[in-house]
Amino acid sequence: MPTKVIAVANQKGGVGKTTTAVNLAACVATLGPRVLLLDLDPQANATSGVGLEKIEGASAYQTLLGQGSLLEKIQSTAFERLQVIPSEVDMCGADIELPRAEDHLHRLARALQPVLESQRFDVIFVDCPPSLGILTLNAFAAADGVLVPLQCEYYALEGISMLHRIMTQLHDNGINPKLELLGVAMTMFDSRTRLSQQVVSEVRDHFGPRVFETMIPRSTRLAEAPSFGKPIIHYDKHSTGAAAYELLAQELLDRIQEPVAPQSFSPQP
Ligand SMILES: Nc1ncnc2c1ncn2[C@@H]1O[C@H](COP(=O)(O)OP(=O)(O)OP(=O)(O)O)[C@@H](O)[C@H]1O
Ligand SMILES: [Mg+2]
Repeated sequence: MPTKVIAVANQKGGVGKTTTAVNLAACVATLGPRVLLLDLDPQANATSGVGLEKIEGASAYQTLLGQGSLLEKIQSTAFERLQVIPSEVDMCGADIELPRAEDHLHRLARALQPVLESQRFDVIFVDCPPSLGILTLNAFAAADGVLVPLQCEYYALEGISMLHRIMTQLHDNGINPKLELLGVAMTMFDSRTRLSQQVVSEVRDHFGPRVFETMIPRSTRLAEAPSFGKPIIHYDKHSTGAAAYELLAQELLDRIQEPVAPQSFSPQP
């Protein structure tokens, strides 16, 4: 299959974007595909989540500004078939510097071209920062699909119409005509609370089959794995979190091969 670029995005902070990007990347890699995890968030949580240090000059940032090749930024991890392009604090200059660059929404798409042509990866996950700023827009312009993690809490759907509107604009203005909503992943699900159940039911009413069947449980093991620089499947293979991300990875791969609704990302079922 041609390389699929998946942006993991939600402008809301702390909803499980990075946890999902890191753990899906690791689980997909264990299933066979070759995976690249591209950390586009200046917080660099995905970078440390797979055990890499933040190193000055190692991020994609200079490449977005037109210097060097993204291929040179790819680093190995301790995990088979999982490579990473780390982030570091220089990425926080993007909102100021990138808009001045020519064709500023397509900088990432352009930088990714040689990576796609190299055919070194089957799936590329892009971990986006918690905003709809220039980095997330670049991720949307470069992606085949957007995966939206939603936390199982009362305000889960708040702000989703804004995200949807931006995706529609990028799609309809021809900035990325292939952009689609690949799926919605429910995170931090607590089966004991009625609130979690209610939120899932409301989100399913809204997004229909685009909500992944697999729900990611709230789990201490998932929260502590990053401090060991390991995705959950390598930190505690037998935990509920590992099992959930393995199932989600399989669901995602099935969906990439056969999307629910190609060329469409209307939130209505
Ligand atoms: N399923 C889960 N169970 C328990 N804790 C979780 C789970 N998913 C994420 N967390 C924790 O919640 C916090 C936020 O998660 P994460 O960093 O993945 O969110 P994010 O959307 O990437 O945040 P940001 O918007 O800051 O980038 C982290 O401390 C993480 O360890
Ligand atoms: Mg994050």
